[in-house]
Amino acid sequence: MTTLGLSADELLSTTRSVRKRIDFDRPVSDDLIRECLEFAVQAPSGSNRQGWRFLVVTDNDKKAALGDLYRRGWDAYSKLGTSAGALAETLDGDHAAQMTRVRESASYLAENMHRVPAMLIPCLPGRVNKAPETGVSSMLASIVPSTWSFMLAARERGLGTCWTTIHLMFEEEASTVLGIPFEKVTQIALITVGHTIGTDFRPAARPPASTVTDWNTWTA
Ligand SMILES: Cc1cc2nc3c(=O)[nH]c(=O)nc-3n(C[C@H](O)[C@H](O)[C@H](O)COP(=O)(O)O)c2cc1C
Repeated sequence: MTTLGLSADELLSTTRSVRKRIDFDRPVSDDLIRECLEFAVQAPSGSNRQGWRFLVVTDNDKKAALGDLYRRGWDAYSKLGTSAGALAETLDGDHAAQMTRVRESASYLAENMHRVPAMLIPCLPGRVNKAPETGVSSMLASIVPSTWSFMLAARERGLGTCWTTIHLMFEEEASTVLGIPFEKVTQIALITVGHTIGTDFRPAARPPASTVTDWNTWTA
């Protein structure tokens, strides 16, 4: 597969959540997903356990079932005070406009979730909610970098991804759909995967890192 030839800095600053610019009608080859996963397993993990598991979903019936769960979750999430839509109303200026765009884009994805060419479900052994307090960070940090590496590798190959978690409101039902033993395995996310329409993506408008960084002593 040809790659876009992005520099590392371009890759790191332009890997966005792609929802509206996914080509739903163009399948993603299994080999391309396998190629991206080879980068995922290069990521760090606590004690080098490499306990990650990835479930790739391309079956239309399973995607439809997950899409239904996702939409149920989306309906519930949209009513929460912490949703992107609700947050947009508490903000002003550029951030409010950005949040409104996120809500519209996320709503579009929810409507079309069953049409995404592939879904990637990163999983970990054990139930994260049963881990001792310090264990939760280690568990999550042992799958998040690998999944992000997958997403970066996908971007370099003309694929768009979006990290989603809303189906986890019904994780047990999703586990049944996918044959995952719910008591023994935690689903971490549902990453949507598809070829992008165009490959030009821009860095997001964000406050500079200096506004969220302290040196040596925490400031209130
Ligand atoms: C933990 C996590 C959960 C997220 N869940 C969802 C989700 O369920 N649905 C969705 O459309 N986007 C979801 N997102 C994507 C965010 O909305 C997105 O990262 C954010 O708006 C910034 O946009 P950008 O990734 O394009 O920079 C999630 C992202 C993270 C990191």
